[in-house]
Amino acid sequence: MLSSLTDPAGRRISYLRLSVTDRCDMRCVYCMSEHMSFLPRADVLDFEELLRLSRVFVRHGVRRLRITGGEPLVRRDIGFFFKELGAWLRLPEQSGRLDELTLTTNGSRLAHYAPILAQAGVRRVNVSLDSLDEARFTRLTRRGKLATTLEGIRAARAEGLAVRINTVAMAGVNDDEFDALLAWCGEIGADLCLIETMPMGDTGEDRAAQYLSLEAVRKTLAQRWTLEPLTYQTSGPARYVRVAQTGRRLGFITPMSHNFCATCNRVRLSCTGQLYTCLGQEDGVDLRHLMRGGATDAALEVAIQQAIARKPTGHDFLLDAQAGIVSGPQRHMSVTGG
Ligand code: GTP
Ligand code: 5AD
Ligand code: SF4
Repeated sequence: MLSSLTDPAGRRISYLRLSVTDRCDMRCVYCMSEHMSFLPRADVLDFEELLRLSRVFVRHGVRRLRITGGEPLVRRDIGFFFKELGAWLRLPEQSGRLDELTLTTNGSRLAHYAPILAQAGVRRVNVSLDSLDEARFTRLTRRGKLATTLEGIRAARAEGLAVRINTVAMAGVNDDEFDALLAWCGEIGADLCLIETMPMGDTGEDRAAQYLSLEAVRKTLAQRWTLEPLTYQTSGPARYVRVAQTGRRLGFITPMSHNFCATCNRVRLSCTGQLYTCLGQEDGVDLRHLMRGGATDAALEVAIQQAIARKPTGHDFLLDAQAGIVSGPQRHMSVTGG
């Protein structure tokens, strides 16, 4: 393996989040505006380009790959892409082996793709679900159908995939549902992860009013549920506890109230080949431009090393509900891949 990717703060990059499309069949209120215009297809990397860049990262020590979007499963022939990447899970360690291939999805096409993903070597999926109430789910996703997402989750479980439900916690929107979500996750054998809303792109929503610090939520949940400390953690941003009554994990992602930037191990590649070294910063390097201009792998490696050498020490999100201050990058979550 070639030299690993480490930034000046000593953070080693072992995790790549790869967005394969900015498109989605939903329009979640915290992610997109009602009328999004999507990128011309020519701007989006083709599979060959995505595989080439991924290979460069894996050769430099990336061991975990998360496919995101938009909604990754709306991309045509995505099954082929997972199959190609899945083969890297079986390579010898010294030849660019991946330890984990996974995805974050809204579940709308999971019923169809669950067997294909399992066969490719995916072992767990994160599924976004912000409400178990049909009318509310429709309002929050604008286009989604609760029954379809639930069917997708059932199919994933039936294929033996571990499921983590991602719920963006929003004051006055779904904060009366966390108990029900926890109980339901226990029933279906899934973990639950609550996420603080992050100010990415303009969505037309009042983010300051919706912001909910998960510290208070955790205290409230601890009155009803026995939350036990857990030594097990993934290398992601979630901090987990075990819920004694269900035996499942409950995670908290708290970029606003307790950021986890000091231990950040990841970079993200947008569907247009922009390498972002921080979700909450604008700085990026245009790998598509380099690649389409004929850059060799060695030149791409240099550009990636240089970008990582500039990795910010932390995000610039600002969300002060009391003062009504909200600021963050202009680009939407759906372009960057969360
Ligand atoms: P695991 O591998 O299961 O730990 O997944 P994950 O939490 O890294 O991925 P997922 O795609 O499910 O993301 C859940 C939430 O965490 C989303 O809202 C992401 O935007 C957010 N998130 C993931 N990585 C980062 C990060 O490095 N910084 C910030 N601020 N948010 C992140
Ligand atoms: N803040 C926090 N989480 C978000 N997600 C999308 N937009 C936001 C936001 N503004 C979540 C989705 C999905 C994951 C990829 O990111 O719910 O689970
Ligand atoms: Fe689509 Fe996910 Fe964004 Fe919702 S959060 S609009 S499901 S990309």
